Amino acid sequence: MLDLIERPRRNRRNPWTRAMMRETWLGPEHFIYPLFIHDGEGRQPIASMPGCDRLGLDALMHEVEGAVADGVGAVVLFPAVEEALKSSDGAESHNPEGLVPRAIRKLKARWPELVVITDVALDPYSSDGHDGIVSPDGRILNDETVAVLVQQALCQAEAGADVISPSDMMDGRVGAIRAGLDAAGFTDVQILAYTAKYASAFYGPFRDALDSAPRFGDKKTYQMDPANAREALREVALDEAEGADMIMVKPAGPFLDIIRLVRESTALPVAAYQVSGEYAMLKAAAQNGWLDEKKAVLEALTGIRRAGADVILTYYARQASRWLKETAR
Ligand code: PBG
Repeated sequence: MLDLIERPRRNRRNPWTRAMMRETWLGPEHFIYPLFIHDGEGRQPIASMPGCDRLGLDALMHEVEGAVADGVGAVVLFPAVEEALKSSDGAESHNPEGLVPRAIRKLKARWPELVVITDVALDPYSSDGHDGIVSPDGRILNDETVAVLVQQALCQAEAGADVISPSDMMDGRVGAIRAGLDAAGFTDVQILAYTAKYASAFYGPFRDALDSAPRFGDKKTYQMDPANAREALREVALDEAEGADMIMVKPAGPFLDIIRLVRESTALPVAAYQVSGEYAMLKAAAQNGWLDEKKAVLEALTGIRRAGADVILTYYARQASRWLKETAR
C-alpha cells in the first residue's frame, strides 16, 4: 500500500459527495438564447448550423414558447435583412417598423417577463457587410457609425428591448448609447457590451445565417487580434467607464483565458458568447457520432462558467436547459 496522506479521490467517491464538492453550476438562468429572424413565413434552415433556423415571426413565437417552457428566460435577436433593405448607411437598422422592433413588441406583449436583448451593429443592414459605415476609400468610419448606432439603440429601446448589446467594436459607442438612452428616459435599459470581441474565424456560420459577411476586406480594424490579452483589459476599463452594465468576451471556447482575466479585473457581470462556429463544431461531431452531444455540450458550457462567465450566450440554451432538467447527479 502506498503511504499517502492525501487521497483526492476520497472526495469523488459517490454522486452525492461529488455534488457537494462541485464548484461550478450550470442552469437555465445562465443562458441567453440567440435567435435568427427573417421577414417571411416559417422556418428556414441554416446549412452550417443544423438545428438552428431563421424564424419568421410566427415561428419565433413558437420557438420562444418552447424555450420558456424549457426554462430559458433571455433571448437575443439577430435579423436576416432582405438585400433590398441593405444600404451603405444601414438606415434600416433604426426603422421603427423594421423586423427587430416588430419582433420585440410581439415578444414583450406575450411575455412581459422575458429578457429581450438586441444586437447593435450595422452588419445585417449594411450593403458592405461591415459593422460600420464605410468611407469611399474603404475605411470603417468610427464616429459617423456611432451616431447611427445610437439611433438603432433608441429604436430598439422604444420597441421595448430590455438590454441593448453593441457588438460593433466602434470606440466610444457604449458611452454614446448610454447618453442617448438616458436623454430619452430609458435609464433602466441595460447595456451588455461586446467588450473583448475578437476578429474570429468562428463567426463563419453566423454570417451564413444572416448573409452578413464583409463584401470586401475583413473586420480586423475594429475587432480585436486573437493574439492579444492585455488589450482586453483596456477595453474593459473603457466600457466600465462608459457605463456598461455587463461585459462580454467573444468567442468563448478558444478564449477561456480572456474570460478568466476579465472576470478578475472587473466587478461587473461577465458574459461569454459560445459562437456559431463553436456550435457548428459540436453539432457536426455529434451528427457524425464522434461525440456524445449532451455530455460534450454540458462540459463545454461548464468550462465557460468555470473560466468566470456569469452568463453564456449559446445556441444550445434550449437544449441544454432541457438536458439539465433530466440530468441526475
Ligand atoms: C455582428 C455579430 C457577429 C456575431 C454576433 N454579432 C458576427 C460578426 O461580428 O461578424 C457572431 C455570433 C456568432 O458567430 O455566433 N456584429
